[in-house]
Amino acid sequence: MATKTLIGPFTQLLPMSGLPIKGALKDEVIAVIDQGGILISEGQILKIGAFKNLVREADEVHQLDQEIVGTPGFVDAHTHICFGGSRARDYALRNSGKTYLEIAKSGGGIWDTVIKTREATEAHLSQGVVTRANAHLKLGVTSLEVKSGYGLSVEEELKMLRAIKAANTKTVVDLIPTCLAAHIPPKDQSGSPGQYLQKLSEVLLPKIKSEKLSNRIDAFVEESAFSQKEIEPYFKTASAMGFDITVHADQFSTGGSAIAVKYKAVSADHLEASSDKEITLLANSDTIATALPGASFGLGCEFTPARKLLDAGAALAIASDHNPGSAPMGNLLAQASILGAFEKLSNAEVLAGITFRAAAALNLKDRGILAKGYKADIIAFPAVDYREITYHQGQLQPCAVWKNGIKVL
Ligand code: NIG
Ligand code: FE
Repeated sequence: MATKTLIGPFTQLLPMSGLPIKGALKDEVIAVIDQGGILISEGQILKIGAFKNLVREADEVHQLDQEIVGTPGFVDAHTHICFGGSRARDYALRNSGKTYLEIAKSGGGIWDTVIKTREATEAHLSQGVVTRANAHLKLGVTSLEVKSGYGLSVEEELKMLRAIKAANTKTVVDLIPTCLAAHIPPKDQSGSPGQYLQKLSEVLLPKIKSEKLSNRIDAFVEESAFSQKEIEPYFKTASAMGFDITVHADQFSTGGSAIAVKYKAVSADHLEASSDKEITLLANSDTIATALPGASFGLGCEFTPARKLLDAGAALAIASDHNPGSAPMGNLLAQASILGAFEKLSNAEVLAGITFRAAAALNLKDRGILAKGYKADIIAFPAVDYREITYHQGQLQPCAVWKNGIKVL
């Protein structure tokens, strides 16, 4: 018989279970188990409840002997942590007045990272992913999406996705790979953006399937990247092949979110430029709206209208967008907490956005809440009241993390 381990007592335990995927959440809806315990076996949760009631069922007890608030492990549903080089120069240029798009047009921006990423070996890229994923783990992230998108050719995109796959075996964080070969049209390709996408459909996507490198396809739908018209055939092919779709949408101009909804994307991410029309569209769909406050900090621009999205009935996830260009910070909890302060989000909404709603943005049904049958991905914060978590805006860091039931921090 497999060993049953009890972890606790947690001064407060927040299972985040039984809450709706969509819409606004008041803090009163958060169930708090005082002096809670989690009974786990073989990486999964068996039971959750009052610590003292679970003691007799446990073969061993992992006793917590300080004041602790426990939550599900955080899920960061949007990152670009596989890259070479640095864009510190871009950041300085932006802060001296140049816009993101101006810098991109003058040789900086995403293309600069493409050059550096192409120069890097697969092993070097992989090591970078492991190092960055482990830094996220220290901040409570136990599942992390990682995009390609700085290769921009069939071979270079495959190199990135293979690097991410290799990294997944070298970190305890679960890495969820996404193909973002449709990030921007590659500058070194002679054909049209449509021809590039066609090549991806015909050559790259089948290869990704056969090597099991990813089941998610992303595209940047934007004036400076791919138009709605260009991206539609690509999404049609990807959907028909069984890929989940996700979209970089409405970052600077609108249009991406409509495409996301049309192709039943699991998520539409960014949405800083979304107006009431796009908000209504998303709220009436099953597509998760993912806010990326790290990109707003990095670019010094407005936040995703998170409050309006929730009030309209949309599902809001919050992710770090950690990348070398627009979002170099990579601290999900700090960013989500500060978004909460600016957008007037409850603790329930912020925590939902980085746990079960973020898991839904990745189509993952086995994590993001603490309940029977779910992954035992748990974070312990040294606090007596769960409201301390967002209050410290990222400065209160986990004192322990369990991944699949194993204490990894
Ligand atoms: O999510 N908007 C497009 N892509 C990334 C930025 C990538 C980069 O600047 O390197 C984003 O912000
Ligand atoms: Fe992004």
